[in-house]
Amino acid sequence: MCGIVAAAASKNIVPVLVEGLKRLEYRGYDSAGLAVISAAGIERVRSVGRVAELETASASTRSVTGIAHTRWATHGVPSERNAHPHVSGSIAVVHNGIIENYESLRNELSARGHVFTSDTDTESIAHLIEATLQTAPDLFAAVRLACRRLVGAYAIAVIDHQQPGKVIVAREGSPLLLGLSDTGNYAASDASALLQVTRNMVYLENGDIAELTAAGVKITRLDGTPVDRPVHVSQLSAAAVELGNYQHYMQKEIFEQPEALANTLEIVGGSKTIQPGIFGAEAANLLADVDAILILACGTSSHSGYTARYWLEAIAGVPCNVEIASEYRYRTSVPNPKQLIVAISQSGETADTLAALRHAKRLGQNKTLALCNVPESAIVRECVLRFITRAGPEIGVASTKAFTTQLAALFLLTLVMAKVKQKLGPAQESAYIDQLRHLPVAVNKVLELESDIKVWAQRFADKHHALFLGRGRHYPIALEGALKLKEISYIHAEAYPAGELKHGPLALVDADMPVISIAPNDQLLDKLKSNLKEVQARGGELYVFADADSEIAASEGVHVLRLPEHYGELSPILHVVPLQLLSYHVALVKGTDVDKPRNLAKSVTVE
Ligand code: M6R
Repeated sequence: MCGIVAAAASKNIVPVLVEGLKRLEYRGYDSAGLAVISAAGIERVRSVGRVAELETASASTRSVTGIAHTRWATHGVPSERNAHPHVSGSIAVVHNGIIENYESLRNELSARGHVFTSDTDTESIAHLIEATLQTAPDLFAAVRLACRRLVGAYAIAVIDHQQPGKVIVAREGSPLLLGLSDTGNYAASDASALLQVTRNMVYLENGDIAELTAAGVKITRLDGTPVDRPVHVSQLSAAAVELGNYQHYMQKEIFEQPEALANTLEIVGGSKTIQPGIFGAEAANLLADVDAILILACGTSSHSGYTARYWLEAIAGVPCNVEIASEYRYRTSVPNPKQLIVAISQSGETADTLAALRHAKRLGQNKTLALCNVPESAIVRECVLRFITRAGPEIGVASTKAFTTQLAALFLLTLVMAKVKQKLGPAQESAYIDQLRHLPVAVNKVLELESDIKVWAQRFADKHHALFLGRGRHYPIALEGALKLKEISYIHAEAYPAGELKHGPLALVDADMPVISIAPNDQLLDKLKSNLKEVQARGGELYVFADADSEIAASEGVHVLRLPEHYGELSPILHVVPLQLLSYHVALVKGTDVDKPRNLAKSVTVE
C-alpha cells in the first residue's frame, strides 16, 4: 500500500522519481505526487489517477533532491488535496503506513496554530516535523525526534527547502530500502524502483533513520545510536520487472509459472530424497517436536494454506488448521506451544499476517515458519524457519505465480513432515519428488488450453454472478478461482464445496448463473458428477475443467475442457491455471484494468 521513492543526487532526479513510481504503482494507484527542492522553495506536483498523469504534469520540473509517492487511500478520498507529498512550512513528507495517533497530533498541532489542508494521517507528520524543527539542531534531529512520537506504521521520506541537498528517511513497520550509487543516493519501498540507478541496496530495519545526500548516507537508530547496515547487491533482473512482449503483468505472470515452479523446486535438485534443512538449519530439531500445524494467511495465500491442509493431514498425518490472519489475531484461541505456525505471504509484509504471527508468538507459540516470496520481508525476518518461493517479482495485483509456487513449497513441507513422522517410505518419497520435478512441463501443457478458454470467456462478459464448485483438495482451488474472477472482472463469484450446493446455493442456479466446476479424475469424481447433475436439472450452465480421463461428457448446457494429464495429489497446482486464464480473459473482454483492479493494491500493509 503506497509506494515511496526519494533521491539526493548530483543530477536531475525527477525522471528517476517518476520511473521509480511507475515500478511501485502496483502498491497503490489512486493518486500520485512529488516534491522537489528548487530555488524558490518546495515545488510540489500532484495528480489524481495514474503516475502517467503525474509524469505529464511534472515534465518541466527539475531538481537534484526530491521525494515522490503513489497512493492507496486510507484516510481521505483519492483527491489532489489528499495526495502526497504533504507540506508544512518548508517541509514536505511522503508516507506509507498508518499513523494511529494522528488525531491527537492534529488536535495538538492545530491548537498551536498549524493549519491542515487534507484529511490524511500523513499531514500530521509534516506539521509535527516542522514544529519539532523549531528547537532541533537540524532536519535529521527533527525527524528523529518526531518519529519517536508517532504510533503506528510508517516509512517516510522528508525534505526541507531550508536544508537543500538532503533527504531524511525513516521506517517502522513499513518497508524501506536505500540504493547507493556514485552519482547519488536513493530510497524506495522496494528494489524494483531503484534498479534503474543501482543494484547496491541497504535494507533499513524498523526504528532506523537515514540521511541521504549526493555524497553518502548516514544511518542511526531513533535514539541517535549510529548503525551499519550491510549492502546487498540485488540479483533482481531488470527484465523480471519489465512487461516484455506481454500485454499485462498478470498474463506474464501466469505464463511464467513453469519457470517459477522450476526455480522454487530447484532446491530439491537431482535428489531422490528431501531433507528438513530446506526450511532452515534448525528445522530437523524443531519439526521433530511439532504435533500440529496452524497456517496464517490472507487472500490467495490463505487458499494455498487450505489446499495444504488436505496434504498435511492425508500424507503426513499432522493435524492442520488454517486461519484467516485478520480473524486469528483478534480471537481468543487455545495456544499449543508444540504447534508449528506457518505464515504464508507473497509480499511478506501483509499487516494482518504479520500481526497474526506476532500474536501467535505472544501466546508462546515460537515454532514459526515463513513461506514468502520476498526474502528480506518482515515476516521472513520474524520466523525461525523460512522457505523463499522463487516466483520472481509479482506485479499484477491478482496473485498467480506466487500461489502455485506456494503450493509447491507447501507440498515440500508435507513431504518433510511426513518423513519426520515416519509416514513416508523411500519409494513413495521418490515418486512424489519425480512428480514435483515434472510440474513445470505439466503446467506448460495446461497453458496450451488458452485458446479454448478465450472462447469460454466471451460467454461470461454479460454475467453478473458465477458459482465455482470443487471437492476435497480442489475446493480451495474453487475459492481461488472465484477470488480471481471477482478481483479483476468485478463479476460476483462464490465458491462452494460441491456437496454443499443442495444446502442453499442451489437456489441461485438458473440459466444466468454460470457454474464452473473443477472435476479431476480423483476418488470424489462420481460424487461431484451427482452434484453437477443437480445443477443441470435446474437449467444451470456448466463449465467443467476435467482431466483427460475424467468421464464427463459435453452435452447441452455442459461445456468441458480437459487438462492433459491427471496429476494425483498435486492436481490442484494444475487445475488453478485454467481458472487464472479464465478470469484474465473475462477481464479482457470486459475491459477492466487487469493489473490494477479498482479499490485494490498489491501489498496490504494496513489493517
Ligand atoms: O502478500 P500476501 O500474499 O500476504 O497477500 C495476501 C493477499 O492480499 C493477496 O493474496 C490478495 O488476496 C491477492 N490480491 C489475490 O489475488
